[in-house]
Amino acid sequence: MERQPSKLPPIPVDAEALGARDLLRVALEALGRDRLALAASFGPEDTVILDLLVGLEPRPRVFTLDTGRLPDETYELIERIRRRYGIEIEFYFPDAAAVEAMVRANGPNLFYESLDHRLLCCDVRKVLPLRRALATVDGWITGLRRDQIATRARTPKIGLDLEHGLIWKVAPLADWTSADVWAYIRERELPYNALHDRGYASIGCAPCTRAVAPGEDPRAGRWWWERPESRECGLHVPHAALTDGPRSR
Ligand code: ADX
Ligand code: SF4
Repeated sequence: MERQPSKLPPIPVDAEALGARDLLRVALEALGRDRLALAASFGPEDTVILDLLVGLEPRPRVFTLDTGRLPDETYELIERIRRRYGIEIEFYFPDAAAVEAMVRANGPNLFYESLDHRLLCCDVRKVLPLRRALATVDGWITGLRRDQIATRARTPKIGLDLEHGLIWKVAPLADWTSADVWAYIRERELPYNALHDRGYASIGCAPCTRAVAPGEDPRAGRWWWERPESRECGLHVPHAALTDGPRSR
């Protein structure tokens, strides 16, 4: 499913007014099932999107970047999701030789040593596999929300991702709050990561995620030893948007 050198299919750009389900429908109709994929780490946002998506397309494309360092609870969740929806999940793994070279040179827990080492690990284990996944689509769907972190405050519901060639990036829950997401999860009794019941808010790789105190910033448990402004892993580079998000919330 390598990208064809074809023209990017157009998507209507008045996306801001559309709700999540309509946005997904429009994207599916424009790009087709084979050329649109949900990027899922199986956080609650991704599960809500998946639930909406299977209501529109019984066999949606869903991929996950398996860094090799995910918590066991995330794999358990993935198994529950596979059973519930009967869908195939496309696993993307890091290049084995690149991981071997990195760990040989810097040790298995290099990320605690410096920001450069942490970004190297995220590059090898997430960013490069993401590039391979996105070479097979004309658009990807993410669970980004504007109130997650300052760098996401202007996330468009549909924008152009120039970082990965010229493809669409769809964020159907851009204007949802965390409370909206959890209300949907409870109402539909969707599976969620067991770590959420143990104080974890935002969940990534096991060594780089920890629980947060009640009332603490949900992202404070991600790369907690770093300064808040560096707490992104390189999957989501700010990109040119055709439909800009609001300037302030
Ligand atoms: S991160 O950049 O800090 O790791 P975050 O955990 O908030 O991202 O997730 C935001 C969105 O990025 C998710 O909703 C999902 O679409 C995508 N994403 C993050 N991690 C992965 C992963 N391991 N595999 C696939 N998609 C991912
Ligand atoms: Fe490596 Fe941590 Fe990034 Fe996972 S989150 S890829 S373990 S640095």
